[in-house]
Amino acid sequence: MSKNKQTAGHKGAYSSQRKKEGEGRSCIRYRCGLTNTIQDVLNQRPGWVEVKDDGEWDFNWCDVGWLRENFDHSYMEEHVRISHFRNHYELTRKNLMVKNLKRYRKTLEREAGRLEAARCDFFPCTFVLPSEYHIFVEEFKRSPGSTWIMKPVARSQGKGIFLFRKLKDIIDWRKDGSRSEEQKDEAQVESYVAQRYIENPYLIAGRKFDLRVYVLVTSYIPLKAWLYRDGFARFSNTRFSLSSIDDQYVHLTNVAVQKTAPDYDPEKGCKWQMQQLRQYLTAKHGFETVQTLFKEIDNIFIRSLISVQKTIINDKHCFELYGYDILLDQDLKPWLIEVNASPSLTASSQEDYELKYRLLEDTLHIVDMEGRLTGKEKRVGGFDLMWNDGPVYTDVGLEALGSSCLVENTLLDLEKCSIASLAHQWILCSEWVPSE
Ligand SMILES: Nc1ncnc2c1ncn2[C@@H]1O[C@H](COP(=O)(O)OP(=O)(O)O)[C@@H](O)[C@H]1O
Ligand SMILES: [Mg+2]
Repeated sequence: MSKNKQTAGHKGAYSSQRKKEGEGRSCIRYRCGLTNTIQDVLNQRPGWVEVKDDGEWDFNWCDVGWLRENFDHSYMEEHVRISHFRNHYELTRKNLMVKNLKRYRKTLEREAGRLEAARCDFFPCTFVLPSEYHIFVEEFKRSPGSTWIMKPVARSQGKGIFLFRKLKDIIDWRKDGSRSEEQKDEAQVESYVAQRYIENPYLIAGRKFDLRVYVLVTSYIPLKAWLYRDGFARFSNTRFSLSSIDDQYVHLTNVAVQKTAPDYDPEKGCKWQMQQLRQYLTAKHGFETVQTLFKEIDNIFIRSLISVQKTIINDKHCFELYGYDILLDQDLKPWLIEVNASPSLTASSQEDYELKYRLLEDTLHIVDMEGRLTGKEKRVGGFDLMWNDGPVYTDVGLEALGSSCLVENTLLDLEKCSIASLAHQWILCSEWVPSE
């Protein structure tokens, strides 16, 4: 791809049918803007060749900065694929995600009623500051003493985040009327969201965690979304307490691990595979409860994607691998914290590397530059097709009864459990409680 020409792909080298396209291609030229696991996956993929600098490419795993600068000037041939949608930030910037969810909720309330709208109540009450300062203050005063979290709208890895209980701590974000002349003269403050802090997180061994789950979208219209089975739980480093709100290692689950922590395991970091977590929860709360929890989590993925379906610029060249952050509270209610457009692909341990390697390999299988899929697959590697212009079901044969039944085609980490395997999980769970 040339910076001036801004074109991608061979001219006229491929037919419109993707399957045929693949057959005529001697190699797939890729560009990669990141230097982590994705580089390794692309490097080792048979028939794929890296292009550097301004060379023409067929596949581009770009960062969002590259996208912002180049996408609008790029001409892309039919077969070309790129790793983001043009306005991915509608879902992945903290303020815009909430704006879209609030709008979607309102539409549902109007068109489908309150009960249906309540299915969107999975994001904590959130305001954008300074623009919504006044309505935020009204809400703030309604529940004195509660804890809020301030997050810059477009940063990541915990940067700029702090907790507060007093309005004086967010004085810089006061809306014009209440700001001093001096403050008004200062450069605009960075936009933040003020969000209700989940004060009762679900704890394991006294520590808070959140879930990182991967969802791959290959089209918005119609919406086609795949859910990856192997996510993980990230634990905070220190036991949870509300008595100090200043310690990031207590309240954030995504800040750098303190490698000096007594229970830090260099092999695993502070992570649990989703399977471990599911088994632990099943042992404590039973199969049904955990099944319900994971269905609620599926509901979050689908509704959040639908909330931006008409806003995201659909483009057949684009796909997006989202990293969802989900937090559980003590009632096992899942909360959507944020959606990441560039989930970390850097591995923190060998186990983590293997998970990310498989995830990326399977992503490439679905993007299918090689033209190997029929388009009817419901499962590719660790991905299950979750939504294809509507829910996707799997036919589960009930051999003993000589019949079958349809279940949702999502198995966030779960092999369909038999009684026997559940009993087995009970035994394993007791070994998996992290040390205090
Ligand atoms: N409303 C909230 N309630 C409780 N914890 C939260 C809340 N929002 C964020 N956190 C914690 O802070 C971490 C970072 O927040 P997040 O919104 O994911 O921002 P970042 O872009 O820094 O990853 C989360 O992983 C979670 O542990
Ligand atoms: Mg996050």
